[in-house]
Amino acid sequence: TLPRVYVTRSMPPDGLDILRKSGQVQFETWDSDDPVPRAELLKKVKGVDALFCVLTEKIDAELLDAAGPNLRVVSTMSVGYDHLSLGELKKRGIRVGYTPDVLTDAVAELTVALLLCTSRRLVEATHEAKTGGWGTWRTLWLCGYELANSTVGIMGLGRIGVAIADRLKAFKVKKFIYTDVAPRPELANQIQAEYVSMDELAKQSDFLAVCCALTPDTQNICNKDLFSKMKKTSIFINTSRGGVVNQEDLYEALNAGEIAGAGLDVTVPEPLPTNHPLFTLKNCVILPHIASASFTTRNAMSSLAANNLLAGLRGEPMEKELKL
Ligand code: GLV
Ligand code: GLV
Repeated sequence: TLPRVYVTRSMPPDGLDILRKSGQVQFETWDSDDPVPRAELLKKVKGVDALFCVLTEKIDAELLDAAGPNLRVVSTMSVGYDHLSLGELKKRGIRVGYTPDVLTDAVAELTVALLLCTSRRLVEATHEAKTGGWGTWRTLWLCGYELANSTVGIMGLGRIGVAIADRLKAFKVKKFIYTDVAPRPELANQIQAEYVSMDELAKQSDFLAVCCALTPDTQNICNKDLFSKMKKTSIFINTSRGGVVNQEDLYEALNAGEIAGAGLDVTVPEPLPTNHPLFTLKNCVILPHIASASFTTRNAMSSLAANNLLAGLRGEPMEKELKL
C-alpha cells in the first residue's frame, strides 16, 4: 500500500494536485480554512508516513510520539520553522522540508507596503476621510516620514532583507545598514549595506525592518533597550515573527512617542485579541500575517511543499530541506 500522508489544512490547489498526480501517496486532508484541533491532529497522525503542515501546527515531541515510527517526513508550507521542534525531529531521523525563496517577492512587496502605510499614516488617513475628520486641507495634518534620504536598517539580512532593500532603493534611500550574527558580505554587497552593531542599528535607522528568523537567540530581541535607543521619528516594521518583539515594551515605546510608528504583520499570539492595547494606538498598523498572501506565492509554496514531501518519501534530496 502507498505511504500515508496527513494534510493539516485545505491547501492551495497546486500542491494537492502534485500529490494526487504523483500516484506515490495516499492522503487525507483536514479540509477547512481553520486549523485542525490539536486532539484531532494527534489522532489523525497516528501511523502516517509524512505530514504536510502549515505554521499553526506545533510539531513537537507529543505530536511525533502520537504519529509513531512510520513518520519520516515533515513538510511545512512556510519559510519559518519556529513551530517545529528541530531537536525532536533530528533525534527521530525525520527529514524536514520548508518553502524559502518562493515567497521572497511577495513578502518583500508586503513589507514595503506596510512600511509606507505606517510611515505615511494611511490607515489613519482613510479613517479620517471616511469619518468626517477631513475638514479641510491642513499644512501639517497627517504628516509622516519619507524614505528619500533616509537610513534603512535591516535586522537579520537574508534573501528577504535583500529583496526589501532592492525595492526601497527606488525610493532614494540614502543608506542601508544591517545586523546579523556575523557579516554577510555576499548578500550585503548586492545592496551596498553596511554591517553594524545592534546599538548602531537602533540609533541610525529611520526605518527598521525585522527580517530574522525566530530562534532562542532572537526571542524578544526587540525590547525596551532597543526602542529607547531609536529615534523619536523612526518607524519599526516586523514581518518575521511576533516572538522577536517584546510587545509590552513596543506598546510603551509607541505610547510614549519614543518611536514614531510600528507596522506589524506578526504578533504574539496570532490572532492578536481585538482588545489588545496595541489596537488602541493610532501609530500602530497591524496586519493578520499576510506577507506571503498572493495567489501565485501561496500556490508556489504548496507546490514546493508537496515536491519536498514526495522527494523525502522517495529518499531523495528535497528541493528545500532544513539542515537539522
Ligand atoms: C510565513 O510566515 C512563513 O513562515 O511562511
Ligand atoms: C498638494 O496637493 C499641493 O498642491 O501642494
